[in-house]
Amino acid sequence: QRSLLGLKELGREEIESILDRAAYWEASPNKIEPVLQGKFIANMFFENSTRTRFSFEVAEKRLGAEVLNFSAAVSSVQKGESIYDTVRTLESMGIDAGIIRLKPIGVLADLATKIKVPLINAGDGNNEHPTQGLLDLYTMRKQFGELRGLTVSIIGDILHSRVARSNLYALRKFGANVQFCAPGSMSAPELDAPLVSMEEALKADVIMMLRVQLERHESGIMAGAEAYREQYGLTAERAARIASHAIIMHPAPINRNVEIDDELVEHPQSRIFPQMQNGVPIRMAVIERALT
Ligand code: CP
Repeated sequence: QRSLLGLKELGREEIESILDRAAYWEASPNKIEPVLQGKFIANMFFENSTRTRFSFEVAEKRLGAEVLNFSAAVSSVQKGESIYDTVRTLESMGIDAGIIRLKPIGVLADLATKIKVPLINAGDGNNEHPTQGLLDLYTMRKQFGELRGLTVSIIGDILHSRVARSNLYALRKFGANVQFCAPGSMSAPELDAPLVSMEEALKADVIMMLRVQLERHESGIMAGAEAYREQYGLTAERAARIASHAIIMHPAPINRNVEIDDELVEHPQSRIFPQMQNGVPIRMAVIERALT
C-alpha cells in the first residue's frame, strides 16, 4: 500500500513520476478510464474543502472507482465519535483507500500506523498538503519546463500554511530557491527559508500568494485587512512591476482585495484557475499510485 502523508519524506524521483503520470492523465482523451473499477474510496473531510474534496471526487470517478463521501458535519462525529473510530469504521466496511483532511496536527501520522488501507493526506493542520504541493510543482513545471533554478516567493500567512510547507519541502529537492515574505506574526522561522522584503519577493519567477487564514487567527485580522493589503497584498500596482515571464499563483480560496487584488485573479499572468484544473490529473496519479 502506498499512502501519501507528505512531500517531506517523498523522494525526488517519486515526485517526478507522479508529475509525469499526471501529464499522462491530463493528455488522456477519455474522460473515464476505469482502471480502478471495483475499488471503493472514501473521502473523509473533517475540515471544510471545495477544491480538494471535489477534485479528488472527479479524479476517483474518472478512474472508475466507487466513491463514498464522508462529511464530519453530518456524521456521528457530532455525537463525539473520534477520528480513529470513524476511519476504522469505514475501513471495516471494506474501503480500499481513504482521502483524509484533518485539523489537529499529528493525528494523521498516528492514524497511518493503525489503519491498513492507504491514506492520502488532503491537508492536515498546518503540517502538509501534499497534493496541493504536487499540483503547484506541476503548474510550475508546465510553465517553465523545469524547476531547477526557479525563484519562488511564497507571500503571506506562512505560519498557518500547510501549502507553504509542502511546496518548500518539494521545491528544495528540485533545486528551486524558495523565499518567504510575511509579517512577523505570520512567519515560521523554524522552516529556515530566507525571509525577504515585498520588493525583493516581487522579483521572483513565481509569486505565490497565500490566503490569510482568518479561521486560524485568534484576533479579527479583517479589521486590519486594508493595512495588510498595503504591506503584503499583491496589488495591481505591485503586479505591474513583476517580470513579464513571472506567474502568479494562489492555492485558493482567495480573500479578494486582501492578499490579492480582485482584478489579478484572472490576470494573464495568473495561474490560479489552471492550478485547480491541474489538481484533477495530479490526484488521479496519486490515487492510482496508492491502489495499483
Ligand atoms: N486549496 C485548497 O486546499 O482548497 P480547499 O480548502 O477548498 O480544498
